[in-house]
Amino acid sequence: MKRTLGTCYYPEHWPRAIWEEDARRMADLGLTWVRIGEFAWKRLEPAPGDYRFDWLDDAIAVLGAAGLKVVLGTPTATPPRWMLERHPDMLALDVEGRPRKFGSRRHYCFSHVGYRTECEQIVTRLAERYGRNPHVAAWQTDNEYGCHDTTISYSDAARGAFRKWLESRYGDIETLNAAWGAVFWSMEYDSFDQIDLPNLTVTEPAPAHALDFRRFSSDQVVSFNREQAEVLRAHSDAPISHNYMGRITDFDHFAVGADLDFATWDSYPLGFLEDRVGADETRKLAYARQGDPDFQAFHHDLYRAVGRGRWWVMEQQPGPVNWAPHNPAPLPGMVRLWSWEAFAHGAEAVCYFRWRQAPMAQEQMHAGLLRPDSTEEPGYDEAAQIAQELADASDIAPVQAPVALIFDYDADAAWNVQPNGDGLSYFGLVFDTYRALRALGLSIDILPPGTSDFRGYGLIFAPGVMHMSEPLKKDLADSEAIVVLGPRSGARDRNMAIPVPLPPNLPAFDIRVSHVETLRQGAGVALDTGGFANGYREIVDTTETVISSFVDGQPAVVRAGTSLYVAGWLDDEALRDLVRDLCAEVSVETQDLPEGVRRRDTATERFWFNYTDRPQTIDKISLPACAVRREAKA
Ligand code: GAL
Repeated sequence: MKRTLGTCYYPEHWPRAIWEEDARRMADLGLTWVRIGEFAWKRLEPAPGDYRFDWLDDAIAVLGAAGLKVVLGTPTATPPRWMLERHPDMLALDVEGRPRKFGSRRHYCFSHVGYRTECEQIVTRLAERYGRNPHVAAWQTDNEYGCHDTTISYSDAARGAFRKWLESRYGDIETLNAAWGAVFWSMEYDSFDQIDLPNLTVTEPAPAHALDFRRFSSDQVVSFNREQAEVLRAHSDAPISHNYMGRITDFDHFAVGADLDFATWDSYPLGFLEDRVGADETRKLAYARQGDPDFQAFHHDLYRAVGRGRWWVMEQQPGPVNWAPHNPAPLPGMVRLWSWEAFAHGAEAVCYFRWRQAPMAQEQMHAGLLRPDSTEEPGYDEAAQIAQELADASDIAPVQAPVALIFDYDADAAWNVQPNGDGLSYFGLVFDTYRALRALGLSIDILPPGTSDFRGYGLIFAPGVMHMSEPLKKDLADSEAIVVLGPRSGARDRNMAIPVPLPPNLPAFDIRVSHVETLRQGAGVALDTGGFANGYREIVDTTETVISSFVDGQPAVVRAGTSLYVAGWLDDEALRDLVRDLCAEVSVETQDLPEGVRRRDTATERFWFNYTDRPQTIDKISLPACAVRREAKA
């Protein structure tokens, strides 16, 4: 397959007179793809039912004539102002019950039926008009579901839809009362009409109530997206995608992805380091101009799974962004490194956001490949270099990784409902595990919790999967891999109740979590083999083999056959010690990489990435600062 580059372009932001020149320069730069249209609803339908497609026809023709392929976005992330006159109650309400008003974007509630109908209409018009256009080679639905905290809405529309969702799930109110444990605090309901959304309660709502509301909210995103995908498919054979975001976990991306042909995501390494990696100040300083060495790779691996093997970076940061607490410029070489890292993880395309910096409005401070005066930015030169390298080099041959890590959005919701301690999150636990694996040079596949075929993996991790289905437990136990579970794996049933017999309830593994405790920062418990459990620790009863203990004598890591249970949130040292030993057992090579150096194997090559701002040497390979190297495998 030919790996390709692209950019995000807004013809409606620029005079018609420069479109040809823009298109020519994109093609000359070596770009293949140009994504357009995803925020243009008002220009496509200035007033209800008054469609104006002539300018978009023209833009697509100009881009196509230059040899570019168009990804056409549906504009449903930006309903025009007139929409509110037709549907005054379509806005999402925040947790305090306040409307999230017009004046930016994503101002809609996924449950509003009237808004959904409007979306179906505009998507149908676009699909009818461009579904067979030879230049429209892919579609994008909406833009970044969930971004700006927009998955969950506490509107009347959401409440009505939630009641229906509950009724179809539970059938009768007694079943719901039992599932939610509603006898507690006299919370039992007489009918589904009495159920409210779990905000503005005096103290916390029942965990099962809160979790069901999150599951419902996720399902609303899934069905919203499915409606668009179905319309597009009826009129077009071009593949359909959505551009997901970094660390947005409040809807099930695997479920959305099941209705699409490929996944894409938007990679902003410097913005993410500032506001969502969870890095401490030292790390933020060390990587301010490079980004976290594992955060992008994690999402590449996650979205490869969401796209069932097919995925792109739809928006790649090309210079400073505008939205993080601080917005430095990347060091020279980083745009190239980020792009090659995506290809090494199997991306089919990398597109830069955006073509030209906008002189107006919210993103004036966001770099593009060009300045507002059309002069080339440093990111442009790096893109040109990558285009040349892609043209010269052989293709990348993806291969199954030796290690798998399960990511479960439902578990993320469950931790969110019941973290049981400040700062404890499922994403954080899984990402810490991922980081420890990567720091040992391992390539990783992320898998959905519905996976049943684990063939080919030497080692599988499933930390924190709060509710483990019986098939998942069995398939993991039956796999030939070494399986590492815990902490908190299988800790709750589907209704957020503590199961009896006590968790984790694994086949042929005699172990019970009898107590759990969460710990403030600095109060971690040491392991006798080195390292600590921080934040979260469990006390277990077991007759199985204890392979390491906490210094107070309680088991830390327990093993039965090829299954292991880890009774705490291990730090990097403890995790790495464990992984090194287990990898040796299944003949998977590990290597302690220097700080900030990472690697990724394909079938035929090893890619090296140096995220640090100084040269490094490893295996006699010298890595300049902020550089990538591609080596044939020994
Ligand atoms: C993304 C979004 C783009 C643009 C970009 C700025 O989240 O999809 O439209 O806002 O961020 O970094």
